[in-house]
Amino acid sequence: MSISNPSAASGHLVSVSAPAKINLHLEVLGLRSDGFHELAMVMQSIELADQLHFRNTADGTISLRCDDASLSTAGDNLIVRAAHLLRERSGFSELGAAIELQKRIPIGAGLAGGSSDGAATLVGLNGLWNLNFSQRQLEGFAAELGSDMPFCLAGGSQLCFGRGERLESLQAMKASMAVVLVKDPSVSVSTPWAYGRCKELFSSRYLSQESDFEQRRQQLRESSWLNPMRADNPPPLRNDLQEVVAPEVSAVQTTLKLLTDLPGSLAVAMSGSGPSCFALFADFASAQAALQLQQPAFAAAGLSSWCCAFRCEGIKLEA
Ligand code: C5P
Repeated sequence: MSISNPSAASGHLVSVSAPAKINLHLEVLGLRSDGFHELAMVMQSIELADQLHFRNTADGTISLRCDDASLSTAGDNLIVRAAHLLRERSGFSELGAAIELQKRIPIGAGLAGGSSDGAATLVGLNGLWNLNFSQRQLEGFAAELGSDMPFCLAGGSQLCFGRGERLESLQAMKASMAVVLVKDPSVSVSTPWAYGRCKELFSSRYLSQESDFEQRRQQLRESSWLNPMRADNPPPLRNDLQEVVAPEVSAVQTTLKLLTDLPGSLAVAMSGSGPSCFALFADFASAQAALQLQQPAFAAAGLSSWCCAFRCEGIKLEA
């Protein structure tokens, strides 16, 4: 592609909010020839977000600073990887950025915090550097970097197939639901470990034919709770990784038990590969009331908790 006039104005600041996601449905269909799992999911953005700030650097360096010292800011961080990929694809090797991350989404939690930060970097630097890559091109870069990243870019409520990167939009929701989200801050779960363990335990029941995968996708598309999503016909919640992770991570069992006791909760599940779990509520006010009541019990068990409304959009440049 031809791009002219990439921005080099050093004082310019671009800010982006990067929301977390939860899985309302995570079904493992089978194994793919690339070694990844074939999935059928419904993902949902929520109002818990990291903040990223981007400034040009005069010397062409790409650097990352974060207010959470436990997070690597080196080349393995998806923010740094996304910045390098975008610069490489732009063809302008002299572009640089100083990136600051305010980390609010817990790390290693099954909430796609890292993927959302990576997707926010594609959007933020596309704006800062005036690259004018289309949303479709950014989605392609996102899919190269991680299975959840295209969803994080698009956000809202989406069906996600393939590795998770094949998106199909859902009808707009009638009214926003909300969750009480809970995580043990001392526990994180590795996604490759969770999928590896799933394969060890359950590969004998995996589907293998594309026609069988497509049948399951179609069943999910036609689910009564999806068209559109409504609080009076709420998602039943399913996460196939829960039966892999919960037996081995006691924090997940404790969290699910405490969430089940919340008054007014519609359903309870783990998100992604865990260990975060959530209870679903018809609206923000009922989620807030339930959390107020049970927050001392979560705190006594050493668990962090949040009340978050569903968010209907993904990553956007802030004004
Ligand atoms: O794509 P991403 O880097 O997020 O995936 C992390 C790991 O999770 C993969 O390396 C793989 O082990 C596992 N995974 C999988 N099937 C998927 C997505 C992830 O097996 N659909």
